[in-house]
Amino acid sequence: MSKPIVSFLVSGRGSNFKAIADKIVQGYINAGLGILISDKKDAKALDIAGSYGMDSFFVDPGLYISREEHEKAMIKLLKKADSDLIITAGYMRVLTPYFVKKYKNKIINIHPALLPSFPGTNGQKQAFDKGVKIAGCTTHFIDDGTDTGPIIMQATVEVKENDTLESLSSRILEEEHKIFPETVKLFCDGKLKIIKNKVHIK
Ligand code: GAR
Repeated sequence: MSKPIVSFLVSGRGSNFKAIADKIVQGYINAGLGILISDKKDAKALDIAGSYGMDSFFVDPGLYISREEHEKAMIKLLKKADSDLIITAGYMRVLTPYFVKKYKNKIINIHPALLPSFPGTNGQKQAFDKGVKIAGCTTHFIDDGTDTGPIIMQATVEVKENDTLESLSSRILEEEHKIFPETVKLFCDGKLKIIKNKVHIK
Protein backbone atom coordinates (compact mmCIF):
# COMPACT_ATOMS: atom_id res chain seq x y z
CA MET A 1 0.00 0.00 0.00
CA SER A 2 1.27 3.46 -0.81
CA LYS A 3 2.10 5.86 2.00
CA PRO A 4 -0.56 8.39 3.03
CA ILE A 5 0.17 11.94 1.92
CA VAL A 6 0.04 14.52 4.71
CA SER A 7 -0.69 18.17 3.88
CA PHE A 8 -0.80 21.16 6.21
CA LEU A 9 -2.88 24.30 6.80
CA VAL A 10 -1.07 26.97 8.82
CA SER A 11 -1.23 30.63 9.75
CA GLY A 12 2.11 31.41 11.38
CA ARG A 13 5.24 30.14 13.04
CA GLY A 14 4.97 26.51 11.94
CA SER A 15 6.71 24.78 14.85
CA ASN A 16 4.11 22.00 14.99
CA PHE A 17 4.32 21.55 11.23
CA LYS A 18 8.11 21.21 11.59
CA ALA A 19 7.80 18.70 14.44
CA ILE A 20 5.64 16.48 12.22
CA ALA A 21 7.59 17.01 8.99
CA ASP A 22 10.85 16.05 10.74
CA LYS A 23 9.33 12.73 11.84
CA ILE A 24 8.07 12.06 8.32
CA VAL A 25 11.47 12.81 6.79
CA GLN A 26 13.16 10.57 9.40
CA GLY A 27 10.77 7.74 8.49
CA TYR A 28 9.32 7.58 12.03
CA ILE A 29 5.93 8.43 10.55
CA ASN A 30 5.14 6.23 7.57
CA ALA A 31 3.83 8.98 5.27
CA GLY A 32 4.79 11.31 2.47
CA LEU A 33 4.93 15.09 2.68
CA GLY A 34 2.22 16.81 0.66
CA ILE A 35 1.79 20.57 0.42
CA LEU A 36 1.51 23.44 2.87
CA ILE A 37 -1.09 26.19 2.58
CA SER A 38 -1.06 29.41 4.59
CA ASP A 39 -3.77 32.06 4.90
CA LYS A 40 -1.07 34.56 5.90
CA LYS A 41 1.47 35.83 3.40
CA ASP A 42 4.28 36.29 5.93
CA ALA A 43 3.85 32.96 7.76
CA LYS A 44 7.24 31.59 8.78
CA ALA A 45 5.89 28.11 8.02
CA LEU A 46 6.04 28.93 4.28
CA ASP A 47 9.84 29.25 4.51
CA ILE A 48 10.12 26.07 6.58
CA ALA A 49 8.15 24.16 3.93
CA GLY A 50 10.69 25.30 1.34
CA SER A 51 13.48 23.75 3.42
CA TYR A 52 11.78 20.33 3.01
CA GLY A 53 11.39 20.91 -0.74
CA MET A 54 7.62 21.00 -0.32
CA ASP A 55 5.30 23.06 -2.48
CA SER A 56 3.77 25.81 -0.38
CA PHE A 57 1.02 28.28 -1.17
CA PHE A 58 -0.36 31.48 0.26
CA VAL A 59 -4.09 31.32 -0.49
CA ASP A 60 -5.33 34.83 0.29
CA PRO A 61 -8.79 34.75 1.95
CA GLY A 62 -9.23 38.37 0.91
CA LEU A 63 -9.50 37.36 -2.75
CA TYR A 64 -12.67 35.26 -2.33
CA ILE A 65 -16.27 36.28 -1.83
CA SER A 66 -16.98 33.66 0.82
CA ARG A 67 -15.22 31.24 3.14
CA GLU A 68 -16.38 28.32 0.98
CA GLU A 69 -14.85 29.89 -2.14
CA HIS A 70 -11.55 30.30 -0.28
CA GLU A 71 -11.75 26.68 0.82
CA LYS A 72 -12.57 25.53 -2.71
CA ALA A 73 -9.29 27.05 -3.86
CA MET A 74 -7.46 25.20 -1.08
CA ILE A 75 -9.23 21.91 -1.82
CA LYS A 76 -8.16 22.14 -5.45
CA LEU A 77 -4.53 22.32 -4.36
CA LEU A 78 -4.93 19.60 -1.72
CA LYS A 79 -6.57 17.26 -4.24
CA LYS A 80 -3.89 17.90 -6.83
CA ALA A 81 -1.33 16.83 -4.22
CA ASP A 82 -3.35 13.63 -3.48
CA SER A 83 -3.63 14.58 0.19
CA ASP A 84 -4.94 11.79 2.45
CA LEU A 85 -4.65 13.65 5.75
CA ILE A 86 -4.97 17.37 6.45
CA ILE A 87 -3.18 18.77 9.48
CA THR A 88 -4.26 22.13 10.85
CA ALA A 89 -1.13 23.29 12.66
CA GLY A 90 -1.85 26.70 14.09
CA TYR A 91 -4.40 27.43 11.34
CA MET A 92 -6.42 30.25 12.84
CA ARG A 93 -9.62 29.89 10.80
CA VAL A 94 -12.60 27.72 11.52
CA LEU A 95 -13.19 25.36 8.60
CA THR A 96 -16.73 25.39 7.22
CA PRO A 97 -18.93 22.26 7.06
CA TYR A 98 -18.22 22.28 3.32
CA PHE A 99 -14.50 21.62 3.86
CA VAL A 100 -15.08 19.26 6.79
CA LYS A 101 -17.41 17.11 4.67
CA LYS A 102 -14.85 16.86 1.86
CA TYR A 103 -12.26 15.49 4.29
CA LYS A 104 -14.49 13.76 6.83
CA ASN A 105 -12.42 12.24 9.66
CA LYS A 106 -9.28 13.19 7.77
CA ILE A 107 -8.52 16.56 9.36
CA ILE A 108 -6.57 16.67 12.62
CA ASN A 109 -6.00 19.76 14.75
CA ILE A 110 -3.92 20.62 17.81
CA HIS A 111 -5.34 22.84 20.50
CA PRO A 112 -3.23 24.34 23.31
CA ALA A 113 -5.63 23.42 26.13
CA LEU A 114 -7.29 20.35 27.59
CA LEU A 115 -10.49 20.20 25.55
CA PRO A 116 -13.39 20.45 26.01
CA SER A 117 -12.15 23.26 28.31
CA PHE A 118 -11.01 26.51 26.75
CA PRO A 119 -11.86 26.08 23.04
CA GLY A 120 -11.36 28.86 20.48
CA THR A 121 -8.45 31.28 20.39
CA ASN A 122 -5.78 31.76 23.09
CA GLY A 123 -6.43 28.45 24.85
CA GLN A 124 -3.31 28.85 27.00
CA LYS A 125 -4.33 32.34 28.15
CA GLN A 126 -7.88 31.27 28.92
CA ALA A 127 -6.53 28.45 31.13
CA PHE A 128 -3.85 30.64 32.76
CA ASP A 129 -6.32 33.44 33.53
CA LYS A 130 -8.73 30.91 35.04
CA GLY A 131 -6.01 29.74 37.42
CA VAL A 132 -6.06 26.07 36.45
CA LYS A 133 -3.47 23.91 38.18
CA ILE A 134 -3.19 21.47 35.28
CA ALA A 135 -2.99 22.83 31.72
CA GLY A 136 -2.13 20.95 28.55
CA CYS A 137 -2.90 20.30 24.92
CA THR A 138 -5.19 18.12 22.82
CA THR A 139 -5.16 16.59 19.35
CA HIS A 140 -8.56 15.94 17.81
CA PHE A 141 -10.38 15.28 14.57
CA ILE A 142 -12.13 18.36 13.23
CA ASP A 143 -15.91 18.35 13.01
CA ASP A 144 -18.38 21.16 12.30
CA GLY A 145 -17.92 22.82 15.71
CA THR A 146 -15.04 24.86 17.10
CA ASP A 147 -12.62 22.42 18.76
CA THR A 148 -15.44 19.94 19.45
CA GLY A 149 -14.35 16.93 17.36
CA PRO A 150 -13.34 13.50 18.72
CA ILE A 151 -10.29 13.73 20.99
CA ILE A 152 -7.26 11.66 19.99
CA MET A 153 -4.43 12.45 22.46
CA GLN A 154 -3.90 14.81 25.37
CA ALA A 155 -0.86 15.80 27.43
CA THR A 156 -0.93 17.60 30.75
CA VAL A 157 1.34 20.36 32.01
CA GLU A 158 1.48 21.33 35.68
CA VAL A 159 1.07 25.06 36.30
CA LYS A 160 3.80 26.36 38.62
CA GLU A 161 3.31 29.12 41.19
CA ASN A 162 5.80 31.40 39.40
CA ASP A 163 4.58 30.66 35.85
CA THR A 164 3.91 33.50 33.43
CA LEU A 165 1.67 33.01 30.41
CA GLU A 166 4.84 32.78 28.32
CA SER A 167 6.58 30.15 30.45
CA LEU A 168 3.43 28.05 30.63
CA SER A 169 2.76 28.37 26.89
CA SER A 170 6.29 27.29 26.10
CA ARG A 171 5.97 24.11 28.21
CA ILE A 172 2.61 23.39 26.58
CA LEU A 173 4.25 23.82 23.17
CA GLU A 174 6.91 21.24 24.10
CA GLU A 175 4.11 18.75 24.75
CA GLU A 176 2.35 19.72 21.50
CA HIS A 177 5.52 18.79 19.63
CA LYS A 178 5.36 15.32 21.21
CA ILE A 179 1.68 14.40 20.89
CA PHE A 180 1.06 15.85 17.43
CA PRO A 181 3.64 13.66 15.62
CA GLU A 182 2.49 10.64 17.68
CA THR A 183 -1.10 11.34 16.64
CA VAL A 184 -0.16 11.58 12.97
CA LYS A 185 1.81 8.34 13.26
CA LEU A 186 -1.23 6.56 14.73
CA PHE A 187 -3.43 7.84 11.91
CA CYS A 188 -0.94 6.86 9.22
CA ASP A 189 -0.56 3.38 10.74
CA GLY A 190 -4.34 2.98 10.53
CA LYS A 191 -4.64 2.71 14.31
CA LEU A 192 -7.38 5.31 14.93
CA LYS A 193 -11.00 4.29 14.87
CA ILE A 194 -13.96 6.55 15.67
CA ILE A 195 -16.94 4.83 17.26
CA LYS A 196 -19.86 6.97 18.47
CA ASN A 197 -17.73 10.12 18.50
CA LYS A 198 -14.98 8.48 20.59
CA VAL A 199 -11.53 7.70 19.23
CA HIS A 200 -10.27 4.20 19.95
CA ILE A 201 -6.57 3.46 19.51
CA LYS A 202 -5.96 -0.04 18.22
C1 GAR B 1 0.08 26.24 18.72
O1 GAR B 1 0.27 26.50 20.08
C2 GAR B 1 -1.28 25.60 18.48
O2 GAR B 1 -1.70 24.77 19.53
C3 GAR B 1 -2.16 26.83 18.42
O3 GAR B 1 -1.40 27.76 17.68
C4 GAR B 1 -0.02 27.53 17.91
C5 GAR B 1 0.66 27.42 16.57
O4 GAR B 1 2.03 27.34 16.74
N1 GAR B 1 -3.42 26.55 17.78
C6 GAR B 1 -4.56 27.10 18.16
O5 GAR B 1 -4.65 27.91 19.06
C7 GAR B 1 -5.78 26.64 17.38
N2 GAR B 1 -6.98 27.05 18.01
P1 GAR B 1 2.96 26.81 15.57
O6 GAR B 1 2.61 27.63 14.32
O7 GAR B 1 4.36 27.09 16.03
O8 GAR B 1 2.69 25.35 15.38
